[in-house]
Amino acid sequence: MKKNILIVPGDGIGQEVTAVGKKVLDRIAGKFGHEFVYDEALIGHVAIEATGNPLPDESLQKMKASDAVLFGAVGHPRYDNDPSAKVRPEQGLLKMRKELGLYANIRPIKLFDELLGASSIKPEILKGADIMFFRELTGDIYFGEKGRKNNGDTAYDLAEYSRYEVERIARKAFEAARTRRKKLCSVDKANVLETSRLWREVVQKIAPEYPDVEVEHQFVDATAMLLIKDPRRFDVVVTANLFGDILTDEASQIAGSMGMLASASVGDGTGVYEPIHGSAHDITGKGIANPLASILSAALLLDISFGMKAESEKVIGAVDKVLKAGFRTGDIADTHTPSGKVLNTDAMGEQVLKFLE
Ligand code: NAD
Ligand code: IPM
Ligand code: MN
Repeated sequence: MKKNILIVPGDGIGQEVTAVGKKVLDRIAGKFGHEFVYDEALIGHVAIEATGNPLPDESLQKMKASDAVLFGAVGHPRYDNDPSAKVRPEQGLLKMRKELGLYANIRPIKLFDELLGASSIKPEILKGADIMFFRELTGDIYFGEKGRKNNGDTAYDLAEYSRYEVERIARKAFEAARTRRKKLCSVDKANVLETSRLWREVVQKIAPEYPDVEVEHQFVDATAMLLIKDPRRFDVVVTANLFGDILTDEASQIAGSMGMLASASVGDGTGVYEPIHGSAHDITGKGIANPLASILSAALLLDISFGMKAESEKVIGAVDKVLKAGFRTGDIADTHTPSGKVLNTDAMGEQVLKFLE
């Protein structure tokens, strides 16, 4: 199959890990006789530096024209520490999501057995945890009106959801639950927020269309607690943009590290595949970032955008073998990991390529 893949590394460790994700895609193309044609585009701080715009039109056009996007991360400490900055790397990411209609962000939280010791959660609580988050990605407080009043002394961000926005993400989550353990947890704050009351109303309304799926509703605060108390009680979780952002960073500890969590952002057009982590200024340039989230994002890309199930499973299998062989990056190493098995970004990528053979 011939496919056009756009590589959008962005900032910080986004550059470092996406290079490795691309190598894995390329190796898969070779092994399975596909032709992957690559192009690159700018986003985030690097795009601001080059053009003044965190998502130049040229990048957006390339995204729309490609068959799939492998994205890294955006962000730079300069903006994190300057609340008055009007142009910010993250605006590029949000615009990409909105313009491509990427309303569903699928974040699988799967613990590889070998990483049981890498988490701060007790192994007996954790073993076998396997959750699939559906985070709504183009609505909520992220995209509502925001501003200042009272001479700048008061600030506001409006959270807004429309019925169709809740319904389309909820349907995706119901359908996924059908292919899994048939349990759906819808997370909201319906005891306080009007957007959450609409959310709950919509999920309740469509639930009878999926009689084979057992639905529960949880408040977001309780969910944050239950994820750590008993992660295995969850199968598919569906939630709003902001809650999903926060809960999945928390849930990364179920999988051992932020460096393990891949995601697929899908919707109306081209799909974007991205680690859930950011540009990680604290480790940028050291070459030690875990590339497995980018590699697993590439696996999601193969499966979801290209329908290449065998190719995708091959990648996940190679990651599993690398972990079984005892190799770790620093973030997933534990006190029992021999120092000779702790690899940097590129060496970890090389091991995955080796196990793809
Ligand atoms: P972060 O995800 O970049 O880092 C959080 C912590 O996890 C850091 O200690 C980091 O070293 C570690 N970490 C993250 N990914 C790792 C990996 N692959 N391997 C090893 N360790 C890893 O979050 P942050 O520090 O809150 O934010 C840094 C910047 O990234 C900010 O500018 C933020 O806006 C941006 N950000 C972007 C995205 C994105 O582009 N999708 C996501 C989150 C944060
Ligand atoms: C993510 C990030 C982004 C978000 C930021 C950088 C805008 O945290 O992809 O999870 O909040 O969605
Ligand atoms: Mn986030």
